[in-house]
Amino acid sequence: TSRNHKRNDHNQWELEQYQKAQQIMNTTKITKDDLDKVNLPDNDKYEYVFDDSQYVNFNEIEEDDELKGDDQPQKPDLIEKERISIAEVRQSLPVYKFRSHFLEAMDKNQVLIVVGETGSGKTTQLPQYLYEAGYSQGDKNLIIGCTQPRRVAATSVATRVAQEMNVKLGKEVGYSVRFDDKSSKDTVIKYLTDGMLLREFLTDSKLLKYSVIMIDEAHERTLSTEILLSLLKDILTTRHDLKVIIASATINAEKFSNYFHQASILNIPGRRFPVKIHYTKNPEANYIQAAITTIFQIHLTQPLPGDILVFLTGQEEIESMEESLQESIIKLGSSLENHLQVLSIYSNLPIDLQKKIFEPTLPHTRKVILATNIAETSITIDGISYVIDPGYVKQNVYNPTQAMESLVVVPCSKASVDQRAGRAGRIGPGKCFRLFTKWSYYNELDANTTPEILRVNLSSVILLLLSLGINDLINFDFLDKPNSKHIIKSLELLYSLGCINSKGSLTKLGLKLSKFPLDPMLSKCLITSEKFNCVLEIITIISMLGESSTLFYRPKDKQEIASKKHASFDSPLGDHFSLLNVSQQWENSDFSNQWCQEYFVQYKTLRRVKNVRDQLIKLCQRNKINVNETISINPLYIQKSLISGYFPNIVKLSMMGDTYKKLKSSNVATPCYIHPSSSIFKIKPIPKLLLYHELVLTSKEYMRNCMIIDEKLIKEYGSHYYSPQELESLSKTKK
Ligand code: CDP
Ligand code: MG
Repeated sequence: TSRNHKRNDHNQWELEQYQKAQQIMNTTKITKDDLDKVNLPDNDKYEYVFDDSQYVNFNEIEEDDELKGDDQPQKPDLIEKERISIAEVRQSLPVYKFRSHFLEAMDKNQVLIVVGETGSGKTTQLPQYLYEAGYSQGDKNLIIGCTQPRRVAATSVATRVAQEMNVKLGKEVGYSVRFDDKSSKDTVIKYLTDGMLLREFLTDSKLLKYSVIMIDEAHERTLSTEILLSLLKDILTTRHDLKVIIASATINAEKFSNYFHQASILNIPGRRFPVKIHYTKNPEANYIQAAITTIFQIHLTQPLPGDILVFLTGQEEIESMEESLQESIIKLGSSLENHLQVLSIYSNLPIDLQKKIFEPTLPHTRKVILATNIAETSITIDGISYVIDPGYVKQNVYNPTQAMESLVVVPCSKASVDQRAGRAGRIGPGKCFRLFTKWSYYNELDANTTPEILRVNLSSVILLLLSLGINDLINFDFLDKPNSKHIIKSLELLYSLGCINSKGSLTKLGLKLSKFPLDPMLSKCLITSEKFNCVLEIITIISMLGESSTLFYRPKDKQEIASKKHASFDSPLGDHFSLLNVSQQWENSDFSNQWCQEYFVQYKTLRRVKNVRDQLIKLCQRNKINVNETISINPLYIQKSLISGYFPNIVKLSMMGDTYKKLKSSNVATPCYIHPSSSIFKIKPIPKLLLYHELVLTSKEYMRNCMIIDEKLIKEYGSHYYSPQELESLSKTKK
């Protein structure tokens, strides 16, 4: 039969892969001595304590026996799984059994809550079931929309579903994320970020293009998702033909049901195997090192197949760990019996690299996937048996007293680390290694993650609500009401940017700003730049700022020359101008890849920057903002445009001359430091006044991307924001 034929082909392929893998590795066994030769951060094995009171998901174990006898994870043959067709894979997912049940419930209810374990098939299957059942067929094609809190989730799921439906991505199945739209008039299943759907309200306030909206990952409680729920609740009263699905992991379901007048809940039990939880005996000072050691420990002592998933806080951390791992792997070389393949996933990862993590693991190989929180629930990677969890996550945290938002690495909640552990038990029993103590789990971790609406800067969302005509924020039907202090601070900021008047209503300028999917402070710079004829430069700077942390690289053996090349971009005015230099020089090279290599600049990053820039240019043109190319721009105009939006982010050198202090004196005086990556980090004399783009809180409060600014400009653009005393203090900084 053709199936058998395929099987033979596959065996041939498998054999080749196996031979390739054989070439990579050597079969000699690893000894303790080999390990010692490797410069592992810690040659002592980590001792874990096993918590036998805790089996995550123990209740739904399918085969009890699996834990008895050998307690090693047992896994179905992954290659075997690869052989079965897409149709068979679809039918093997837990949601499949509930297909008719689900469609019936959709027929009966306007709002349906779907609760199911991660990986059960909600995101990829439910929209397809609706499409197959005819939900997209109205007078004209209607869209089945599915929102995701993260862009990688939206793009990767759309890719997968297009593949399952055997259509070209962007045709029947598409996605739409900020600055990247792969949908067309043929699109009937559309995956989009929650933020994008929110913006669609601006042009289609009743979402008439949609027949069904699935709000996915609702348990994550992102700001945009929550605002969407409120807006949907409102339009449902007039759009009786619109259906809403709220999909969530097991947490929070009741809350959503209550909010939507006791909406029905459909439970989809997942396939869950027990996961043994291990803790470190002592608190880990350096979780990166601990994680690396644990990866090798697992790889050397645990059987194959069984991939490893490591939760890290961000792209930079992932990249540096990837580098150390590769180094250790090379050093271990032939002593590794099985190959260790390092892969990563984070929100900026290009689509072609995303696909790699979904490819089946080769024989005699173990994948180790370094992931951000995205792998907690949004993305399911098959084949994981081991989870390493340092227990941290990077969050945006807003401090209303300081009116400051900063990126902070914080400990995860219990709910979150339990979700992470569950990722090890999807296809067989698994193990989770927590790089913190059992005591800390029970005594230190919060039960749940604080919803974003309670902790972030609300100015973007408030501006959006105002431009939708929602003026009464106090009586707005929030799922959880944000702190009124946060609302007031955000209104104050919008007022000082000129977006609202003293009565709190939207101004013309405010309306203009709301057209841009940017932070209002950035949109303000853009609008001001029109007056100075430097729109293109400001757009370029804005696009570069968003990607600046992954722009430069320095190979280990060429550090010096790379640093020199990087320094050639430095502008005495600061990072905004240095970034502009990079972009302009790249453009002069005709966007060449070779130029990037020569200057140790990431080509991929610049491609992304260019894409964002092109989108912003289009948006400006659509909003009748003049984007003319000007021959030579007075840098002062660029500075003026930037300070018109960023006047709240000004610091002055302290009296001692060693740190910076926020100019707004009502703010708590945490000292700020110039980020070491800044082009003015070592500039002499030390600049007295700086404008910074963002604060990153690690061991210290670092200002990333700084521009040198003078007193006159602050007085010109900040006099409505700073008190006379604060402005006076400008001339009293260290001379
Ligand atoms: O949404 P939920 O967590 O319930 O599951 P899903 O994302 O629909 O995933 C269902 C299956 O599709 C899993 O086995 C995933 O590994 C697979 N999938 C994939 O192979 N490639 C993707 N880009 C997304 C999902
Ligand atoms: Mg999902």
